[in-house]
Amino acid sequence: MRIEYKIRILYNDFNKNNKDEHRKERCKTMKVAVIGAGLMGSGIAQTCAQAGYEVFNIDTYAPAIEKAKNNIDNLFNKKIAKGKMTEEQKAEILGHLTYSSSFEDVKGAALIIEAVPEKIDIKKSVFEQLDKVADPETMIVSNTSGLSISEIAAVTKRPNKVMGVHFFYPAPVMKLVELIRGIATDDDTYEKVREFAVNIKKTVVDAPEYPGFLVNRILVPMQNEAAFMVMEGCKPEDVDTAMKLACNFPMGPLELTDFVGVDTMLATMTGLYNGFHDSKYRPCPLLETMVKAGHLGRKSGQGFYKYE
Ligand SMILES: NC(=O)c1ccc[n+]([C@@H]2O[C@H](COP(=O)([O-])OP(=O)(O)OC[C@H]3O[C@@H](n4cnc5c(N)ncnc54)[C@H](O)[C@@H]3O)[C@@H](O)[C@H]2O)c1
Repeated sequence: MRIEYKIRILYNDFNKNNKDEHRKERCKTMKVAVIGAGLMGSGIAQTCAQAGYEVFNIDTYAPAIEKAKNNIDNLFNKKIAKGKMTEEQKAEILGHLTYSSSFEDVKGAALIIEAVPEKIDIKKSVFEQLDKVADPETMIVSNTSGLSISEIAAVTKRPNKVMGVHFFYPAPVMKLVELIRGIATDDDTYEKVREFAVNIKKTVVDAPEYPGFLVNRILVPMQNEAAFMVMEGCKPEDVDTAMKLACNFPMGPLELTDFVGVDTMLATMTGLYNGFHDSKYRPCPLLETMVKAGHLGRKSGQGFYKYE
């Protein structure tokens, strides 16, 4: 019995390793370009390189590239010091990663992932440029947190090959990816992008092309309601303690608001309100006052809590 069991484990391990090797071989032959080397773009590029894809991370701002390079180097060195990575593994992953400042380097990419700032004009301009330089069959996806995929796709001559792939911060760690089809996204693009997301070891969910997609549509109104409770006189500590203990959340809704930035959270809530034209998404006035006062959360040292 025991021997049979061991053989089965060995067989399963062999199969898994074999599948991993096959997956890596397939990835190696596919080039991916990530536009933007900021907070999200650099993490997405790292995630793809770790899965074995040939990645070009492109940013037009030279200091952003330098920062991304230094960050990944420091991160991997820390992992090596902790025994969680070898020098060889570091070299292999970095070998898959090329930094560039030229959009010309998207040539030959099967997939382009855009992660430039959340401004519709910037996104449209980037998509227009990419559409001109990328191969005709290249799929272009946006990591937008809430802008309209259909609107972005409409500036290209390939709206059927455009969709949303929403990663969460930090991209190499967070397991979830939301897939958002624009009005013109075709089935072939959706299936290929879905396969890619699974290959980089993410769990995918389909989200509607409406403000907030799936996660933020549920999460941000909860943070907003928590702010209303503080406005009505509740202590932030009580709100967060209650939600952590009752719902097993790792972080309370107000701690989370401070973490992502009160201004960012307010902007998302305002996007829901304007997008749905529904009063149930009205932003809490306390958030507006906090932003006007510069109480932006951790990044400003003061939000619902004070930070050193
Ligand atoms: N920060 C988050 O937690 C988070 C989470 C999920 C999704 N997003 C989305 O990801 C996108 C990027 O956000 P971020 O937080 O990484 O922003 P960021 O400001 O950290 O990075 C944006 C990068 O884009 C570069 N850039 C600007 N214009 C460019 C251009 N024309 N061509 C190439 N590069 C250009 C900038 O130099 C910068 O390095 C946004 O759409 C955002 O909504 C952010």
